[in-house]
Amino acid sequence: MRLDKFLSDCKVESRKNLKKIIKQGAVSVNGVCEKDPGKNISESDTVTVYDQVIEYEKYIYLMLNKPQGYISATDDPRQRTVLELLEEEYLLYELFPAGRLDIDTEGFLLLTNDGKFAHDILSPKKHVPKTYFATVEGHMGEKEISVFNEGMDLGDFVTKPATLEIIDFIGENTNVYVTISEGKFHQIKRMFEKVGSSVLYLKRISMGGLTLDDSLSPGEVKKLTKEEINLIKETK
Ligand code: URA
Repeated sequence: MRLDKFLSDCKVESRKNLKKIIKQGAVSVNGVCEKDPGKNISESDTVTVYDQVIEYEKYIYLMLNKPQGYISATDDPRQRTVLELLEEEYLLYELFPAGRLDIDTEGFLLLTNDGKFAHDILSPKKHVPKTYFATVEGHMGEKEISVFNEGMDLGDFVTKPATLEIIDFIGENTNVYVTISEGKFHQIKRMFEKVGSSVLYLKRISMGGLTLDDSLSPGEVKKLTKEEINLIKETK
């Protein structure tokens, strides 16, 4: 690929500024100063800008611990979006949320600029399980566990088998883990309504084999490593 494309994929500078700094001699390829923005290079070449090595990175993947009060969108005229939580260094990447958590849902939201990866993990055909912690009204028991497991008719669609695991009872409510492999609009809330309950609190805690990093406070992000990204596609 062209040298200026390599650097612009890595968001080093705007494409226009890149041409300028390359011509000024700020860029080296494998230790040799390179003044041609169109020079053909490969991802494995060592490129430096002002002596700083630039690792080729076109796509990035962020784990966000989404707080309540933000919508899973890239822009909105009325409500705050999850992108408003990001530091400036990430804004150049044109990230978007891979999937949607409701405004009042917390937890693991993946932000990326890799459309193919987002499509892959969201496709119902890929069956990437998503696990949520929820506090729900009423006492859940064996009956609800089997209804979730059998799949339920929500009117516009029938859910795939889901796992309901009871953690404990707090007064009149139940803390549970729910795992689904699809992500229809308000799916978990609708599933609990179907069994006569309602969701009081909802937090996504894992996608595939990758669990929300519990050192992330609500609103914080961390960049995922290649190993972590691959875990999302693996089931536990
Ligand atoms: N199911 C819901 O009802 N809400 C979410 O935010 C995610 C799954």
